[in-house]
Formats: sequence, C-alpha cells, structure tokens
Amino acid sequence: MNDQRLAGKVAIVTGASSGIGKGIAIRFAKEGADVVIDYHGDDGGAQDAKSQIEQMGRRAITVSADVSKLDQMEALIDTAWKHFGKADILVNNAGVEKGAFFTDVTEADYDLVLQVNLKGPFFATQAFVKRLLAAKMPGRVLNISSVHEDMVFPHFSTYCAAKGGLRMLMRDLAVELGPSNITVNNIAPGAIDTPINASMMKHEMQVKALLANIPLGRIGSVDDVAGLAVFLASDEAAYVTGSTYVVDGGLMRNYHEQ
Ligand code: BGC
Repeated sequence: MNDQRLAGKVAIVTGASSGIGKGIAIRFAKEGADVVIDYHGDDGGAQDAKSQIEQMGRRAITVSADVSKLDQMEALIDTAWKHFGKADILVNNAGVEKGAFFTDVTEADYDLVLQVNLKGPFFATQAFVKRLLAAKMPGRVLNISSVHEDMVFPHFSTYCAAKGGLRMLMRDLAVELGPSNITVNNIAPGAIDTPINASMMKHEMQVKALLANIPLGRIGSVDDVAGLAVFLASDEAAYVTGSTYVVDGGLMRNYHEQ
C-alpha cells in the first residue's frame, strides 16, 4: 500500500519559489505529488524547489508566470496539462503586502496588492476549473489567505481588502463548484517566518510585540502550514469545502484586558 497521501496527484503552486509556497511544493512532493512550480522573478528559488523535488524522485517543472495577468494564468494551467496530462490541485499562494496609513496608499500599491492577492487566485482558479469541468474531473483549490481575511491589520488596508475578498471568493466557489466535486478552502496563516515579513522580523521590538499576542509563544514555520495543506489536498479531506483553516498559534483568539 502506498502511504503517501498525494500519490498520483499533480499540484500547481503559485509563488512556489520561496516561503510558504516553496514549503508546500516540497511537502506535496514528499507525499507523492508531481508539482508545477509557478514563480515570478526568483529563478534561483524556483530551481532550488525543482531540484529538491526531483531528488525525492518526483517530477517538477518551473513556470515563470505573473499571477496578476490573466493570460499568464491561462498559460500556467495549459503548461501543467501539456506536461503532466492533468492538474488535480491548485494552491493559490502567491501574495504581497504593502504597509501605509490609509490616506497614503497609492493607486499603484492598491493595484499591486489587489491584483496579486485577489485577481490572481480568481483567474488562476477559473483557468484550473475550466479544464476540470471539460475533463469531468474532481479537484482541489486551496487559497493561502491570512488571519487578516478576518482580523484587522492597521496600515495594511489593501491587504485586508484583498484577503477579505479571498474569503468570500472561496465561500462562493465552494457552493458553485461543489456539484462538480471541486472543493475550495482557505488556509489562514498568522505570523510565519517567510520573506513577506522579513523586514518586520529584523525589528526586535516588533517581534516582541507580536509574540506577546501569540499564545503558543513562537512565530510559525512554513512546515506548520504545509502539514495542513497536505491534509486539505488529500483524499482524507474529500468532504471538506467552503471553510477557512487558521494556523496562527492562537493569535486570532487572543484577547487581554490589561
Ligand atoms: C502577514 C504578516 C503578519 C501576519 C500576522 C500575515 O498575513 O503577511 O506580515 O505578521 O499576518 O499579523
């Protein structure tokens, strides 16, 4: 018996050259999946993910595609099908954040954050689902959202708008796509040690303040998130759709009166 939980599956992971996306891509391969590594700019990171996956005896390809461009998302899905003959799992992971007080937010930053974090998952999922429906295949969509799909993040209004939108997109698609046996769920990480918050992680005071809000008393690791992603992508999660799963060390539920 094969005890790898994603044996025979093909997974597409956006933003898989670093951080949570790279961790998920490698973990999926450990569980038997072949992986399409989408990246934008970080060629070295993508190549490193690919060689780690190939060392495990799994197949991987790297595809340079910007999630904010519809035609590039269609090309990404097409490449996966051309190369592997199918794609079972889509992980919408690529994300950016830009901090600014509300009145200082520029149109360019708004467009970047909304396009990468919301438009990207929207059209990547659309292209992914079109193929599944045509082939009458089931599928799994996993969005890497954030605790900030639900929890405020002052000075990150664009990020909150995008992640809040991603929450409702997931809920809507779970209902629209359920009859086609396509599940849609979000993972909402809290503070995870990745490049997206590398500059914050350098500021001791900010890290201390953040840790004071985390009951488990530590910043999360990419592996903390990847384990949940494996479960949601696996056959064990066949009846799981339309929800967000929080991985945040208790951050969201923490409240102090003092
Ligand atoms: C953000 C981080 C932040 C964390 C917890 C994440 O979604 O990317 O910058 O530290 O949420 O607030």
